[in-house]
Amino acid sequence: MNAQPKPALSPAELDAFWMPFTANRQFKANPRLLARADGMRYWTVDGREVLDAVAGLWCVNAGHGRREITEAVTRQLNTMEFAPTFQMGHPIAFELANRLAAIAPPGMDRVFFTNSGSESVDTALKIAIAYHRARGAGQRTRFIGREKGYHGVGFGGMSVGGMVNNRKIFAASMVPGVDHLPHTLDLGHNAFSRGLPHWGAHLANELERLIALHDASTIAAVIVEPIAGSAGVILPPVGYLKRLREICDKNDILLIFDEVITGFGRTGKPFAAQSFDVTADLMTTAKGLTNGAVPMGAVFAQRKIYDAFMQGPENAIELFHGYTYSAHPVACAAALATLDIYEREGLLTRAATLAPKWEDGVHSLRGAKNVIDVRNYGLIGAVELDSRVGKPGARGFDVFLKCFERGVMVRQTGDVIAMSPPLIIEEKQIARIVETLTEVIRDTD
Ligand SMILES: Cc1ncc(COP(=O)(O)O)c(C=O)c1O
Repeated sequence: MNAQPKPALSPAELDAFWMPFTANRQFKANPRLLARADGMRYWTVDGREVLDAVAGLWCVNAGHGRREITEAVTRQLNTMEFAPTFQMGHPIAFELANRLAAIAPPGMDRVFFTNSGSESVDTALKIAIAYHRARGAGQRTRFIGREKGYHGVGFGGMSVGGMVNNRKIFAASMVPGVDHLPHTLDLGHNAFSRGLPHWGAHLANELERLIALHDASTIAAVIVEPIAGSAGVILPPVGYLKRLREICDKNDILLIFDEVITGFGRTGKPFAAQSFDVTADLMTTAKGLTNGAVPMGAVFAQRKIYDAFMQGPENAIELFHGYTYSAHPVACAAALATLDIYEREGLLTRAATLAPKWEDGVHSLRGAKNVIDVRNYGLIGAVELDSRVGKPGARGFDVFLKCFERGVMVRQTGDVIAMSPPLIIEEKQIARIVETLTEVIRDTD
């Protein structure tokens, strides 16, 4: 089915929207405008079909245009478009929390709703500090993040994050008392590993060094992405996350997994924590929670954390935190419909079935011109290209652009091409993504 071509926007019409994480002038000189989506595909405003190899932005896990979500949202809008959740409630918020608890890693059966990944991260950081205070350890206020980590754009998430471009402008405004673990990307030891790399579990021991420096009694939590996405797909070495867990346990430090991109089936289980058999104390999610249809995030907490707050006078608010739109009824309706689809179609485990084909596909790029690494896990893949001398990111951007022109949407971070297709992808579509990328890389200097 072709989209009806829509009139292109004039340069003046492109001016007002200050685009996020975008080279505005470059985009507006040569816009890439999407008009419609269905299944695995987008259509541009001029009616061109584009295969979606990134699930929108790592969020449309059940594919585009799911009628059940549209209908659930419409029904909810017609029934009750908004209800407050401060000192009030509405049933589907509780239903959604229960449904999420049922698929969560062991013990993570308390859920705090937000509207985005960034809000989930800042919420989790605040819960961590408040938790320690509630149990009489109010001096535990430090956070340990990781180099190359991405935890959204709030002041908390930015501070624990480790991507230099997101940090350097705001250097003077960072949350104090944050330190960082080293990242785990090492092409020297691990280039072209299939799945998790085998070298590097010892990098988790750096946490002991930071504990020796700051003293455990000052540290509230360690936050990491089980698989880092935004910095260009960085995988945890075998045993690394378990080691972090052990060190945190030994020192009474909370472990936060940021599963904003790894959540909801991306790794072949509902959450990466389950794929890697390591459970965190707090887990941040968003994106796939509503299939990207309505903004929503959720922080999962171990019950012991919630219980620590449930003390003092019963009429006292236990956590002074929340958003007007926490558990927005329309978002709840979208999330419930999304979970129905995930369950009915087995999408939360489908990535595990497809992973071998996906792995073979992306690794077929080994040996292609300028390719210096290929990384994969579940339905996540990345191809790293050698940077042009003095022009980091230029080759990656050219590849991204040519893929789009040839009908495949990928994501580019520097010279890394990242892929995370909807979990409904078929083998022939995997082949199409790989073919297009192979041709584009061959044709790019
Ligand atoms: C791991 C991780 N955390 C947090 C975020 C921020 O999410 P949002 O853009 O919804 O605020 C992202 C976004 O890509 C992410 O990948």
